[in-house]
Amino acid sequence: MSAVFNFTFVPWFRSVAPYIHKFRNQTFVVGVCGEAIAAGKLPNLAQDLALIQSMGVKIVLVHGFRPQVNEQLRAKGHAAKYSHGIRITDPVALDCAQEAAGQLRYEIEAAFSQGLPNTPMAGATVRVISGNFITARPVGIVDGVDFQHSGLVRKVDVAGISRTLDMGAMVLLSPFGFSPTGEAFNLTMEEVATSVATALQADKLIFITEVPGIRLRPDEPESDDNPIDTELPLAQAELILKNAPPGQKPTDTDFYLQHCVRACKAGVERSHIIPFAVDGSLLLEVYVHDGIGTMVVDEKLESLREATPDDVGGILQLIEPFEKDGTLVKRDRTEIERDIGHYTIIEHDGVIFACAALYPYPEARTAEMAALTVSPQSQGQGDGEKILKRIEQRARAMGLDSIFVLTTRTMHWFIKRGFAQVDPDWLPDARKRKYNWDRRSQVLVKKL
Ligand SMILES: CC(C)(COP(=O)(O)OP(=O)(O)OC[C@H]1O[C@@H](n2cnc3c(N)ncnc32)[C@H](O)[C@@H]1OP(=O)(O)O)[C@@H](O)C(=O)NCCC(=O)NCCS
Repeated sequence: MSAVFNFTFVPWFRSVAPYIHKFRNQTFVVGVCGEAIAAGKLPNLAQDLALIQSMGVKIVLVHGFRPQVNEQLRAKGHAAKYSHGIRITDPVALDCAQEAAGQLRYEIEAAFSQGLPNTPMAGATVRVISGNFITARPVGIVDGVDFQHSGLVRKVDVAGISRTLDMGAMVLLSPFGFSPTGEAFNLTMEEVATSVATALQADKLIFITEVPGIRLRPDEPESDDNPIDTELPLAQAELILKNAPPGQKPTDTDFYLQHCVRACKAGVERSHIIPFAVDGSLLLEVYVHDGIGTMVVDEKLESLREATPDDVGGILQLIEPFEKDGTLVKRDRTEIERDIGHYTIIEHDGVIFACAALYPYPEARTAEMAALTVSPQSQGQGDGEKILKRIEQRARAMGLDSIFVLTTRTMHWFIKRGFAQVDPDWLPDARKRKYNWDRRSQVLVKKL
């Protein structure tokens, strides 16, 4: 192992440690679209899931099978029929779905049984258990269209799944459910994964899909200044859904998003849309700070908001101790009153627990984040990060390319969150003129 590799490996591995500790004993429901399997991604996906499971995460895996069923239908010379974005499952389609599901289950079980020496699966012992955990009901007749054997989830056997997970096994579900009369219904992967995540009150619902995530401006084409929105607050996701036409195909904006929103509203705090096209996307999303796809998060928006003049007293109280010990530069009441529109705060029960201000320098397409503070009794619970995300959103909405901070003591916190140190000369001219050379603050920049 070369010195450079040691040097990069150890800090990298340690940087992942907080996530490993945090996710131990948590439950993730992972929905994989059939296209991912058709594209040959199963072996690597199984390796990544086995790794995550070995770090103590309980996993329910739900596979999709759209292309596999269509292939079976083609082989039988039967056309695939859809309405309202749902397959119409006639008796031939039901046969095809059962065949496709059976075949896929074998393939998935085989992938989790790999264990050749010198491969990531060496030593992994993943027990995969499937079962009749889903009770279904028919979709029925909608707008005059009879969906026949297409169904919806009626009930999830939470006790059965939980016991299986507690045994240390991975639960594998096909998009099938059975009615109390023993009839089989073809469901969608998205419906099963969402219902299971909600019923289990899972910590995460993750869709591994044919799309890279949701873009900042979802109805505009992909470009450098319209990247994937890595963190989408629930309220904003609901707004996108309201304005988007109903999703019929997986590449439509709200096809997966509607399920993420449904799960989030029902108590699953985080749901993700990530691309199967990127190798290791699951690891990147779960164990890297910014992730790779879109995470819809229920961040209790009522407590995170832009400040109003009524908040000046609370902000002063919050930042005062940090001004006294020199962590923050002194700001007086008049200054905060004048700039109150720049502040974002987190408030719980009428008390302000965190704040930060954003001062734009539009001529340099950047903005300063100043006075970032979290009250000592709530530090370490992610409030600093929530405020940072909101400030980033505000800066993006202003069309800026970056944000910067000046700090004397908190560099590492910022560096861990994607900031990089630059020379004070980098500062926009208007800010450079106010730079206090005696304080020797470090300047850190984050590209948006
Ligand atoms: C920096 C600060 C805003 C972070 O807020 P927070 O809500 O505690 O942050 P989060 O919960 O999102 O993150 C907590 C993590 O940051 C780490 N952290 C806190 N202060 C840090 C610092 N000064 N340097 C490096 N890391 C720090 C914690 O150890 C914790 O690490 P962990 O996740 O590995 O356990 C908060 O500590 C604070 O208000 N500090 C005093 C004011 C200040 O320094 N502001 C910045 C002025 S430029």
